Amino acid sequence: MKTIEIAGRYSVLANDTCCLSCGGAAQKSEAKPNEVCIDLGSGRGTDVLRLAEEVGEGGFVYGIDVTEEMIRKATTTAAKMGVENVKFILADLEQIPLHDEIANLIISNCTLNHVSNKPGVWAEIYRLLKNEGRFVISDIYSGEPVPEEYANDPVAVAECWAGSVTKVEYLKIIKDAGFSEIKILEESLPYPKGKIEVSSFTISAVKDEYSCCG
Ligand SMILES: C[S@@+](CC[C@H](N)C(=O)[O-])C[C@H]1O[C@@H](n2cnc3c(N)ncnc32)[C@H](O)[C@@H]1O
Repeated sequence: MKTIEIAGRYSVLANDTCCLSCGGAAQKSEAKPNEVCIDLGSGRGTDVLRLAEEVGEGGFVYGIDVTEEMIRKATTTAAKMGVENVKFILADLEQIPLHDEIANLIISNCTLNHVSNKPGVWAEIYRLLKNEGRFVISDIYSGEPVPEEYANDPVAVAECWAGSVTKVEYLKIIKDAGFSEIKILEESLPYPKGKIEVSSFTISAVKDEYSCCG
């Protein structure tokens, strides 16, 4: 397993561990023809390629990942398949080099738990969505605050729960970013990890800038 340090926390950035699934963000996102989509933590590009087919030639899909090798693999796969309406961008999710209000849809699968500055990423999601754009995100939350001993535990990081937060904290971060009416599309029962229990869920909300922020 290869790890690099991002903002003080070890994030798993390995080939072997890039494709753990938390839920069905891509399957539940219902991308439509001509939409612009972004996949946060695009890994090998599987979800980006799926969305590219759904949005068609008139649409476009960006995959964002902080690991060079993932970007290279995904770009190579897209080129081999002759898919032209995609671009994979090497970037940290806290600072995405795309302009404001570019996207109709933002998805992510099993990635946001890795990010230490979660409010920063949710601010980016809000910034990048067009008004009435939506996110569909699958992730893991913890039943209680994750004990500090797991913060840099390679297994906990690889299993995508070392950096997870509780459901209450997760939903508060999203609301603070400006979203309301967050829907839970699917949710697992809690399952044991280390000394705690975690759950996975897929959530969605629409950006409504006219109801945001008083
Ligand atoms: C568990 S994998 C999920 C990959 C993909 N979404 C999937 O479902 O197969 C997490 C991915 O997020 C990327 N990642 C982790 N932290 C990141 C960050 N701060 N910024 C951008 N990408 C990040 C990793 O490089 C990895 O490819």
